[in-house]
Amino acid sequence: MQSTQEKFRIFEAKKAEAEAGGGIERIEKHKAGGRLTARERIELFFDARTFNEFDRMVSHRCTNFGMSENKVPGDGVVAGYGKVNGRLVFAFAQDFTVFGGSLSRTNADKIIKVMKQALKMGAPVVGLNDSGGARIQEGVLSLAGYGDIFQLNVKASGVIPQISAIMGPCAGGAVYSPAITDFIFMVKDSSYMFVTGPDVIKTVTHEEVTKDELGGAVTHNSKSGVAHFMGENDEHTLMMIRELLGFLPSNNLDEAPVLCCNDPADRTDDNLQEYIPADPNKPYDMHHIIETIADDHHFFEVMPHYANNIITGYARLNGKTVGIVANQPSSLAGVLDINSSVKAARFVRFCDAFNIPIITFVDVPGFLPGTTQEFGGIIKHGAKLLYAYAEATVPKITVITRKAYGGAYDVMSSKHLGADVNYAWPSAEIAVMGSAGAVNIIFRNEKDEAAKAKQIENYRDNFANPYKAAELGYIDEIIYPKDTRAKLIVALDMTKTKRDENPPKKHGNIPL
Ligand code: HXC
Repeated sequence: MQSTQEKFRIFEAKKAEAEAGGGIERIEKHKAGGRLTARERIELFFDARTFNEFDRMVSHRCTNFGMSENKVPGDGVVAGYGKVNGRLVFAFAQDFTVFGGSLSRTNADKIIKVMKQALKMGAPVVGLNDSGGARIQEGVLSLAGYGDIFQLNVKASGVIPQISAIMGPCAGGAVYSPAITDFIFMVKDSSYMFVTGPDVIKTVTHEEVTKDELGGAVTHNSKSGVAHFMGENDEHTLMMIRELLGFLPSNNLDEAPVLCCNDPADRTDDNLQEYIPADPNKPYDMHHIIETIADDHHFFEVMPHYANNIITGYARLNGKTVGIVANQPSSLAGVLDINSSVKAARFVRFCDAFNIPIITFVDVPGFLPGTTQEFGGIIKHGAKLLYAYAEATVPKITVITRKAYGGAYDVMSSKHLGADVNYAWPSAEIAVMGSAGAVNIIFRNEKDEAAKAKQIENYRDNFANPYKAAELGYIDEIIYPKDTRAKLIVALDMTKTKRDENPPKKHGNIPL
């Protein structure tokens, strides 16, 4: 009969076997690439000594290709729950040293268990992905595992925040579950995402492309818009996820955590008074305005490398999380195009799903004209942003700093799309279009350039201001720039009991 000590020794040996992952050689190779192991990532991510692991002893049941002789307890994924800044979070980390982090049926079941628990408890789920995709030896069993994860990702969408980090080469099925989640982080120089790799591409389309060009962090953060954040290395990426979680509620029935705020709610900022250039065609950096009004001047930008003509991200006002959407006059004059519309629409919908008030700063000359945009479907993509704002029932507060022209005026959280408080600065210009464009249409047959110039001036004086809109009640208040922070905080406080619902329906039909 085994003694208690003997039983404890067996227990310790089994635990150690699970912790050894794919063995020293593979771990060394993995770490030589600048990457942390799955367990190191989990340890770093959670508050110290708060992680509890599920299914450490689970192993695969595959018997093909001699796999029954090749088992690692845990089967290549570390899964469980812990605390992030004291709040419950579920997570799984794929271990690339075990069959390349590939997804087996049992491995999928571990991930599914964590996701189901997260859904039941109403807590975020974070996936640290490092996987070669479907476990090739398991065939359709692995595909079934992916399918079940996708289904659960969709079920959890809009109920709990789902966050993915891509921390190694992720191929095939390993990229589709992250694609359904709310935010994707990638690690610079050591992570890749692609449906098919460079070799397959060369065979099928004869294109030659490197792994980095095809699916590296820079590509997906700046070109494809698949990823939302890029970390410098594993540690930086994990810290960014922790910071993001701090802005978010744990689930769709919860409110985001409120932090103690030492930044005065009535702080005024004289530097904003003359920040808008007198020349309407001169750019300025909208980040400066956002950072000026935010608590402690802190702004956490989402998708900072993509579609820079619109800014999205989180800040706090008097300790409360707000989502910020802002046109950026210093990039393409802040125009709305396909990429910026889609970027902002997705952000607005996330905020709405998770009870985060939306603050919109407007300086938009309109939609970007041209065949590239029209052929690319700007009508459909611009409509996404329109739809997202109109559908959102969270508090919506808008500040027009300068231009609000044409359809883009309507789209950018106007009164007509249900915004609760619409402010304008005295520098605001709210009209169907800019003066020159308007006069060129209305006075098309005017040949006298001097007369035309006079009409442009006339139009500017009469329409390029906030007063017509204010007379009609479409702007609730014209405010001094310096008072913006205080006014936003007052408006947020007023809207905190907002009750607004869309009619019951299965779901709307956003123009995808
Ligand atoms: C089983 C795998 C594996 C996989 C890698 N390995 N991918 N084992 N199934 N999918 C194993 C390797 O055999 C190797 O084992 C170890 O992981 C490390 O792999 P390397 O190739 O040495 O690493 P590296 O050079 O860094 O290349 C990583 C990689 C490459 C780019 C991910 O391994 C690769 O291309 N893998 C296959 C990717 C793929 O085609 N997956 C299937 C996609 S289809 P040893 O024992 O030597 O350490 C799919 C369908 C789902 O996912 C669709 C759902 C919609």
